[in-house]
Amino acid sequence: MKKMIIDADTGIDDALAILYALKSPSIKVEGITTVFGNINVDQATDNTLRIIALAAPAYDVPVAKGAGKPLRRGKPEFGTHVHGANGIGNVEVAASAQQPLDEEAADFILRKSEELAGELILVTLGRLTNLAHAIQKDPSVCGRIKHVYVMGGAVGVPGNITPVSEANIWGDPEAAELVIASGVPLTMVGLDVTMKTLLTGEHLDRLRQSCGEENAGVVDFIRESHRFYFDFYRSSNYFIDAAPIHDPLTVLVAEDPSIVTTQLMNVKVVCDSELCAGMTVADLRRRSLVGSPIHVCTEVNASLAVDRLLHAFI
Ligand code: BDR
Ligand code: CA
Repeated sequence: MKKMIIDADTGIDDALAILYALKSPSIKVEGITTVFGNINVDQATDNTLRIIALAAPAYDVPVAKGAGKPLRRGKPEFGTHVHGANGIGNVEVAASAQQPLDEEAADFILRKSEELAGELILVTLGRLTNLAHAIQKDPSVCGRIKHVYVMGGAVGVPGNITPVSEANIWGDPEAAELVIASGVPLTMVGLDVTMKTLLTGEHLDRLRQSCGEENAGVVDFIRESHRFYFDFYRSSNYFIDAAPIHDPLTVLVAEDPSIVTTQLMNVKVVCDSELCAGMTVADLRRRSLVGSPIHVCTEVNASLAVDRLLHAFI
């Protein structure tokens, strides 16, 4: 059983990733921490509580609210054009009776890293601000976390916010650089693989026909929220009739790393540039001198990933 904390800016694909993790028999979700990004952190926290209640009202999954703004940059930027005004495709999900913990995300990560030293897996689906805060408070956390799987970055492909930057890194480059340079064992699940792993409307229609009655409500939510996401990807720079499963793929990789191929690379995040902020530069020279060593996903078994994702809801 993989023991995970999921750190999310709960938008449409974060919600699907959380639902998958809650359904997977090989994952124990130890808690969910929230961060600004697709929407503001209060909305991300509220969405998270609603999604947990939708998945299984009896689940005991603590939620800790985290950062509302980047580490050093003043103003947070949100992605409501991609995820809708409420972050989950403007779909109304019933409110939850659960309250967030009276403990900040960074403190929750630190506490759990002590409780589960050497076992805890952290999956980040948004800006890396919460983990950066935790490392600033107690750098020894890096030796207690088993592995961090980061949805973010782009090495051999274009960015999705600027020509070179992916949203989660671009939204707080200083936090991303701090985490990458910290030495915590880390795998970057970036656009190189997530843009190859596509979910379509037909996938979801078939899922609705084959899922059991107990999953019907969850699958209806996934279909409704993805309408907004499909519209975005159809009309954005991508012009595709599908949506990449950025965040669910990251949970799938954390659950079973064999679905991707990785390469150890030295990576550095560009911080001081208007044009290139958030770019994940990999030093691929023979004698690599720039950046810190992390595992970068370069290839993915996309059909296996999508099959596994859908299978959890049958
Ligand atoms: C990432 O940005 C957000 O829009 C998604 O939730 C995902 O985490 C993709 O670049
Ligand atoms: Ca996300």
